[in-house]
Amino acid sequence: TGHFTYDVGYGSTASTKSAITYIDGDKGVLLYRGYPIEQLAEKSSFLEVAYLLLNGELPKPAEFASFEHDVSHHTMMHESLKNFFQGFHHDAHPMAMLAAAVASLSAFYHDDLDVENPADRKLAAIRLIAKMPTIAAACYRYSIGWPFRYPRNNLEYVDRFLHMMFEVPSEPLQMSPVAAKALDLLFILHADHEQNASTSTVRLVGSTGANPYASVAAGITALWGPAHGGANEAVLKQLREIGTPDNVESAVKRAKDKNDSFRLMGFGHRVYKNFDPRAKIIREMCHKVLAELGVSDPLLDVAMKLEEAALKDEYFVERKLYPNVDFYSGIIYKALGIPTEMFTVMFAIARTAGWISHWIEQHETPGARIGRPRQIYTGHDVRDYTASGKR
Ligand code: CMC
Repeated sequence: TGHFTYDVGYGSTASTKSAITYIDGDKGVLLYRGYPIEQLAEKSSFLEVAYLLLNGELPKPAEFASFEHDVSHHTMMHESLKNFFQGFHHDAHPMAMLAAAVASLSAFYHDDLDVENPADRKLAAIRLIAKMPTIAAACYRYSIGWPFRYPRNNLEYVDRFLHMMFEVPSEPLQMSPVAAKALDLLFILHADHEQNASTSTVRLVGSTGANPYASVAAGITALWGPAHGGANEAVLKQLREIGTPDNVESAVKRAKDKNDSFRLMGFGHRVYKNFDPRAKIIREMCHKVLAELGVSDPLLDVAMKLEEAALKDEYFVERKLYPNVDFYSGIIYKALGIPTEMFTVMFAIARTAGWISHWIEQHETPGARIGRPRQIYTGHDVRDYTASGKR
């Protein structure tokens, strides 16, 4: 037995110090390296935000050019990694393929990688940020039986990804700039979120000195769950099930029933007890994207009715359950032609910038120790072994 603080789900335990991201959950504030998410969403780009998270400062023009050059020169995956995909059945979930493919990067970059060397750490970060869209697009194309596309390194990050996803040989891709802008914004909003479950997973695995690609692969598996990044896929499935605004009332009623495990996906957050600031930005973007792309989606009507109904319901008000980042993101992804199973993969591409920034911070911080939670033992006292005939 031991005397430890019992903190189920780590609601009140700070597992680390960190200078990367700040959240004030009561006020609905989110800062990356001190910069408000609203300003970054309006003025920055995902790649610039990735630089900021990694390095602590916004890049000067020459620094950004050099970062962009490095990222665009590490976008290809090893040719033999392609064979890896062939082992999957065509309907394998893209998150399963993504986690496995990223873990397999550790096989390509392991023996000559020294996690104690800052240059090696930086190279691992660049490689991950660069290769993630290539691998993600390969997961998608494998699932629909299309040949993989090589990355076009003359394009910007998000454009390059959209080309790898949707480009067909000898046909120029007709992709609205609104689509690229919307995806870039979603990537900015998902880039980091302090010690969430997947980032804590990356840090826990990282604390053992494990390979960074293996550590990030562990983060991907943690992200997949519907209580975390998998919520964006779950939200869209739920909106489809609800179907029409008329059915919203009964869905809200079900979510309040304590004998029913049904929850409103995209509502609630461990830290935000106010509007998730990212949800506010996405909500606005969602209306804009649908209007500019000329898409009318009946699921948006269901989502708006659901939000309205929940925000005035006593149950949700009392528990401070507000729409979170994943509530509206799926509707945007859908409008861009990204299939539902790929939603959490989109989240993973963006969060890679945060995961690897935390992994680097962890290795830069002196006095780090292996992560090793304790437990409150609830099992048997010591007892003697009984022979099998006497049990
Ligand atoms: N629908 C209905 N009731 C809910 C919901 C919901 N979405 N979320 C929380 N509650 C209730 C819960 O039943 C509990 O009620 P009571 O006090 O009567 O027992 C109370 O609110 C507190 O909930 P909790 O489960 O103790 O809160 P938590 O901090 O452990 O969980 C959460 C946070 C995000 C896992 C949870 O709110 C949830 O499951 N939400 C739906 C899934 C979701 O949208 N996840 C995405 C989170 S944001 C992006 C990300 O992290 O990737």
